[in-house]
Amino acid sequence: MRVLLVGGGGREHAIGEALVKGGAELYVVSKHKNPGLARLAKGYGIAKETDVERVLKFAKEWNVELAFIGPEAPLEAGIVNALESEGIPTVGPTKEAARLETNKAWAREFMERNDIPGRKMFKVFDDVQEMRGWIDEYGKPVVVKPLGLTGGKGVKVVGYQLKDNEEAKEYAEHLIKKDGKVLIEERTDGVEFTLQVFTDGKKVVPMPLVQDYPHAYEDDVGPITGGMGSYSCPNHLLPFITRDDWKKALETLEETIKAMKKEGYPYKGILYGQFMLSGKGPVLIEYNARFGDPEAINVLSILDDNLLEISLGIVEGKLRNAKFLNKATVVKYIAPQGYPENPVRGVRIEIHEDGILKEGARVIYASIDENLTLLGSRALAIVGIGDSLEEAEKIAERGVKHVKGPIFYRKDVGTRRSIEKRISIMRELRGDFEPNSC
Ligand code: GLY
Repeated sequence: MRVLLVGGGGREHAIGEALVKGGAELYVVSKHKNPGLARLAKGYGIAKETDVERVLKFAKEWNVELAFIGPEAPLEAGIVNALESEGIPTVGPTKEAARLETNKAWAREFMERNDIPGRKMFKVFDDVQEMRGWIDEYGKPVVVKPLGLTGGKGVKVVGYQLKDNEEAKEYAEHLIKKDGKVLIEERTDGVEFTLQVFTDGKKVVPMPLVQDYPHAYEDDVGPITGGMGSYSCPNHLLPFITRDDWKKALETLEETIKAMKKEGYPYKGILYGQFMLSGKGPVLIEYNARFGDPEAINVLSILDDNLLEISLGIVEGKLRNAKFLNKATVVKYIAPQGYPENPVRGVRIEIHEDGILKEGARVIYASIDENLTLLGSRALAIVGIGDSLEEAEKIAERGVKHVKGPIFYRKDVGTRRSIEKRISIMRELRGDFEPNSC
């Protein structure tokens, strides 16, 4: 079956591999030629992923029978609506359904009117004085969010990217002047985790939980990035998450899918919940209308099932359960020095793939071209899979040594020390808390 994949990052390399393994004949459109995808693809078109007309032209030229959308920006541009109106069934939500990610105020209001569990307090402001007065009266630390897509860079939290509520008011005022509106939320303390599900609009099929490391530098400091790495555990939970927490997070996503259908925006594709495990249980930080990057790499590395069949199940409304191996995964992204603020670009790096494979690790290509020249974002990921988290982490770490150049990565991703830190945060919040094994 001829399948179009839109997007050329690490997430899409992992999706492309899984589709080909499932029997797909792969065609890719992305803004650069991902060397991993180029090896797998029968056809490769270079275009901006939001250029719906050009993507559609390639899709027709290749006569594709199914499409799979990787990133969020083309969803917002209405790529699913356009492909489906040409008779090409597509894995991904329509523009209207993708508002769960692309319009953060809409998503919060949707949760409120449908009584979705895992909500947090929020307010939307278009008036600077009103916003300032409300934050003063509220008094507790807030989160300031632009309403639309910002590639993970627009959200600022008091105590982290913002010193105090005074700085929050300044930033919120700037956003009102720029965008007309701003979203202010209460700050929720705890530990973040990712739950991704497949859905055909009715059935919801969970994938293993993953934890992402969004900060640029070790010990969770520095600017927020797309994610410098991630891990998952053989039991598909995380050390600080109980089965009961997991069930609550899943209920949030299940109720979301039900309510989307009820409101007339049936949602199909992958729904990603970014949760904060607070002292009182999981709270939804935000929805994403696609796989996470790097989280897709973790779960697809242990998918013991056929992604092409799952994709057909999604578009035909016949989704069935999916199996995943009981293995641990560790993904370490390698980024150009200076990423994300001032990355080295245009420099060729050395990637000794044979050496990486000999260590038992896998390579996933991302923002790097066919000459292995850095393009400015996360360049490639090294993946370790093992029976235990320790084993997976060691494999990934050994693999990284075979990449040389002006690059950096986080050594602490998936290490016991970094996980202990998260467990101790939960101990402080929960008192009686007992970690589960990973
Ligand atoms: N890893 C965060 C994201 O994909 O948005």
